Amino acid sequence: MRERETVLITGGSGGMGAEFAKIFAKEGFHVVLAARSEDKMKALAEKLNQKYGNSCANSVAAVSACASGQGAVSERASGQGTVSVQDSEYRVRPDPQTEGKGDLCVEYIPADLSRPGGAEALWAEVQRRGLKVDQLVNNAGAGKAGRVVDAAPEVMEGLITLNVTSLTVLCRMAGAAMAERGYGKILNISSTAGMFPDPYFNVYGPSKAYVLALTEAMKGELKGTGVTVTALCPGPVRTNWAKNAGKAYPAMAADPARVARIGFEAMQKGRLCAVPGIFTKTGTFFLTRCLPRSARVGIGAMWQRAMIRKDEKKRGSIR
Ligand SMILES: NC(=O)c1ccc[n+]([C@@H]2O[C@H](COP(=O)([O-])OP(=O)(O)OC[C@H]3O[C@@H](n4cnc5c(N)ncnc54)[C@H](OP(=O)(O)O)[C@@H]3O)[C@@H](O)[C@H]2O)c1
Repeated sequence: MRERETVLITGGSGGMGAEFAKIFAKEGFHVVLAARSEDKMKALAEKLNQKYGNSCANSVAAVSACASGQGAVSERASGQGTVSVQDSEYRVRPDPQTEGKGDLCVEYIPADLSRPGGAEALWAEVQRRGLKVDQLVNNAGAGKAGRVVDAAPEVMEGLITLNVTSLTVLCRMAGAAMAERGYGKILNISSTAGMFPDPYFNVYGPSKAYVLALTEAMKGELKGTGVTVTALCPGPVRTNWAKNAGKAYPAMAADPARVARIGFEAMQKGRLCAVPGIFTKTGTFFLTRCLPRSARVGIGAMWQRAMIRKDEKKRGSIR
């Protein structure tokens, strides 16, 4: 009988992370969400537990209690799985010996991954809960419009910690545990912004180029260990990302559910890199292979300026 797998999804409170959570829950995984918005993760966990899990449906209150990370944990066996008792609350974990709807559970861990030590604290909480992470989706990420020379250093530091450092620490911690067990899958969310110059978004494009480079390096290092590392490089996707970054979406922005499905499938197949959508794929191929580097910089700057202007017009800050 196949053991039920556990997936840790960072940025699981909305956007593509929520779409990943829906896919993994539907596919029968034990899902662990991590992000800052506890209320959003709680709502999503409740919805998914009600839809896909019986044993967890009655432990919704307990899931939020677990998220506080307070109190001592003791464990005892039950008919349905392992029950963690924490400050007189409990939650039910899936029993690896059983399959089917009833033993699925979605839980969440509040985490700020833009803070130094945020990823280490998240991993420590994963360990404290006794979770064995079989698959990791490094999805949490953000960007901010603006030139490098105008950006506040602390904003850039926060973005680098979120997009680069925390992602790397989680790859390191989860990857090592997976390699030791001889099985695991990691999906890192990069971007076409990591394949092509991304002026006017300070460190975003460079941070996503790092994500792609790290994925390639780890893929080479982990060959033969049973652990695969995949990068997903979407073009524009219709989530809150652009609004938060101060940029408008082009008309052809993709559906987040579709992009997450493509990422999920590429990850399960152990592919190195997936660029969702035929338009994005051919566009990226042409722009990165057929143009000289200096022309790419000029086109990147023109495109990003147009998207920032469109957003400013929409917000009414310019006419
Ligand atoms: N949308 C696009 O056009 C696009 C294109 C290519 C790549 N991407 C990448 O795809 C990934 C998902 O983005 P999305 O489009 O789904 O954006 P989104 O809707 O803004 O979601 C971002 C997720 O990251 C979490 N997050 C942000 N800051 C965090 C922090 N400090 N600590 C922990 N979690 C944090 C957010 O949760 P909280 O706010 O609750 O913390 C949220 O769940 C990102 O890595 C993004 O760079 C997006």
